[in-house]
Amino acid sequence: MPCYKHKEEDIIVVKRQRILYGLTILIVVLTIGVALAIVPPPPANQDLGIYDTVCGEFAEEDCRACHSSGVPDTHHLLVEDAGYGCTDCHQVINNPDGSTGVGVIRNCVECHDTSPHHGAQEAVDGHCSHCHGSFVDDYDDGHSIPTYEPSLITPDTSYTVEDAATGKKWGGCEACHEPDKTLVPPIYSNPETHHSLGSLSLECTMCHGDTKSGESLLSIRKCEDCHGTKSLHNIQYDYNRTKGQLGYGHVGDNWDCAGCHAWYVAYSYAPQEGPIVPSIDQVSPTSIVAGAETVMNITGDNFVNTVNGIDYTSDVVIENGEETMTLTPNSITASEIVVTIPAIDAGSYGLRVVKSGMNSNLVPIVVVPQVTIDSATVRGNIVTVRGTGFGDEPEEQYAELLGVTVACEGNVLETDIISWSNARIVVNCPSATGGDEVTVNALHGSDSATIG
Ligand code: HEC
Ligand code: HEC
Ligand code: HEC
Ligand code: HEC
Ligand code: HEC
Ligand code: HEC
Ligand code: HEC
Ligand code: HEC
Repeated sequence: MPCYKHKEEDIIVVKRQRILYGLTILIVVLTIGVALAIVPPPPANQDLGIYDTVCGEFAEEDCRACHSSGVPDTHHLLVEDAGYGCTDCHQVINNPDGSTGVGVIRNCVECHDTSPHHGAQEAVDGHCSHCHGSFVDDYDDGHSIPTYEPSLITPDTSYTVEDAATGKKWGGCEACHEPDKTLVPPIYSNPETHHSLGSLSLECTMCHGDTKSGESLLSIRKCEDCHGTKSLHNIQYDYNRTKGQLGYGHVGDNWDCAGCHAWYVAYSYAPQEGPIVPSIDQVSPTSIVAGAETVMNITGDNFVNTVNGIDYTSDVVIENGEETMTLTPNSITASEIVVTIPAIDAGSYGLRVVKSGMNSNLVPIVVVPQVTIDSATVRGNIVTVRGTGFGDEPEEQYAELLGVTVACEGNVLETDIISWSNARIVVNCPSATGGDEVTVNALHGSDSATIG
């Protein structure tokens, strides 16, 4: 990955004795994901799924919208898990007073400059729903696709009829999903979004007919491998409030049905319309510690909905590779879930909301070791601190940020590290006495205690 294109103006110098992890409040001004109100489409609103653009248009805030939890943590776990050093990602800053600090680049796209997602194994395997949720089906999940020749009501990949007077298209995806390059960020066309997946090189036949064997290139049957009726008939923004209104999705009003089916409008409910696909906008808190329960707030859309008298409700699922844990929310509304996550081990996880087999998009969450001082004692000049989560001994150049401080009535005393392990730190501190406050600043957090 071409990384570290340091630009001076992007570097924020962090020089503090105490890193206030968890207190960094990020005021996120969303550019992508902001509710556009374009009704009727085209172009379609951008409340659900991923903004219909290409990776290069994403800005830092857009990355943080999904990566709302644990951005420093996910990187700092790589120090012990993957052998990264601080200077692989940070520049050392020499302050005028002779001390050192660390330069922090926060803008994701400075370092991650191509789509980091489509290199994931699930993408290579064509399991797009792993991250995109049930807005798409997987080609091998057994969903039904009509075998009859496309009929007059079958939607086209683009459109089947165009109103000569107004230019309005009907009968296919392009009736509503048209590009608009005047918006910021621009909405790209369907070929542009599907053809720009970074390092992922899919076979053309994953989405198109095999022209070598005489099939037509643009065949809706191929699109239905990922866009089957099951997912298409369950895409609607804020279903409980927009059922009956046109323009907010696929099943609001007959106008929407006609967008895909042209003249064919027969029922108020579509076949398989039911557990409308839920989606997550954001989760908080931004930092989760291992070994302790966390009450988490999840905001988003369609967490509960009612179709034709039937109520559907969601659970929260936490995934770690093949392992999953299903949690019942403490409280749930259509747009907010509060759930208690039991104590789990440090590591990277995915969180999603699942409603009658319909999955939301996946949101990454990161759990870090809890930094806790159990005891602090002094004998002569030697202060011994016992606890958990201290990690490895920090490199010397980060002494300003990570280490042990002893404070006596507010005055910070000089300390020298004698030894440092995950559970025990020993420092030399000549004037320390019982009653002084000792603080450990470790990579994943800090804790203080009174010397006993
Ligand atoms: C729509 C939500 C979403 C957005 C927007 C998003 N990400 Fe992600 N990202 C994810 C999910 C989900 C994963 C983890 C997938 C998994 O656990 O398998 C991930 C994984 C990653 C990874 C690790 C990939 C790997 O090899 O495992 C990187 C790096 C990353 N994201 C960076 C970014 C950057 C940079 C941006 C902005 C350009 C961004 N993300 C925007 C959802 C998102
Ligand atoms: C793989 C890359 C990577 C490595 C390795 C890494 N960091 Fe970071 N660090 C980051 C990123 C990215 C951020 C910014 C996170 C954000 O803005 O949310 C950050 C943030 C920080 C911050 C500021 C925290 C805050 O939010 O105010 C400090 C301090 C820091 N790192 C120290 C270190 C030290 C010390 C090491 C080595 C022990 C280290 N980092 C190793 C990527 C890394
Ligand atoms: C200073 C450079 C730098 C910045 C800024 C940065 N990253 Fe990274 N990030 C890295 C490096 C290096 C890695 C490790 C190699 C990789 O996975 O590509 C990494 C890895 C990741 C991972 C995967 C962690 C894992 O467990 O493998 C995620 C997720 C991620 N970054 C997201 C982000 C997001 C979101 C932002 C912005 C809020 C961001 N990064 C900003 C350098 C950076
Ligand atoms: C690891 C998670 C992940 C997987 C797996 C994944 N995507 Fe994505 N996809 C994302 C994220 C995050 C974005 C937005 C940022 C970016 O482009 O990297 C995105 C963006 C897109 C976009 C553009 C946005 C839009 O609404 O048009 C398309 C198209 C897309 N992906 C198609 C696919 C296809 C096809 C597959 C399966 C072959 C797939 N993705 C698998 C995470 C993923
Ligand atoms: C009647 C207009 C209309 C037609 C026709 C239409 N869509 Fe949509 N579609 C929408 C609206 C509106 C949304 C919700 C957009 C939002 O709020 O994010 C949507 C959302 C989606 C989503 C969810 C993810 C996202 O990026 O918004 C997918 C996937 C999708 N449409 C695929 C298709 C496909 C495939 C076709 C053609 C078979 C199609 N649509 C035809 C109006 C339409
Ligand atoms: C992830 C799905 C996907 C893959 C893979 C894909 N395409 Fe497409 N392609 C699309 C979509 C969606 C459209 C838009 C269809 C429409 O509007 O009728 C399209 C349109 C096209 C078009 C006609 C319209 C245009 O403006 O480009 C051509 C030609 C095309 N693709 C060629 C290819 C070739 C060649 C490959 C392999 C190198 C390929 N595609 C791979 C999804 C894909
Ligand atoms: C390999 C799976 C796959 C195939 C095949 C596929 N798509 Fe998609 N499509 C996706 C994914 C993933 C998204 C992004 C959903 C999201 O925004 O979260 C998407 C989104 C869309 C959208 C909604 C607008 C947008 O950009 O999000 C339309 C319209 C669409 N596809 C049309 C088509 C058409 C037409 C074809 C056939 C030519 C096709 N797709 C084939 C995976 C696929
Ligand atoms: C985003 C496009 C889209 C929208 C919008 C849409 N449908 Fe469909 N519908 C499909 C597709 C694709 C099929 C499969 C037909 C085929 O491939 O021949 C289908 C099939 C059907 C069928 C017959 C097939 C079956 O499974 O029995 C009916 C009836 C139907 N839709 C009704 C509706 C109604 C009613 C609405 C509006 C409430 C609606 N559809 C909205 C895409 C859509």
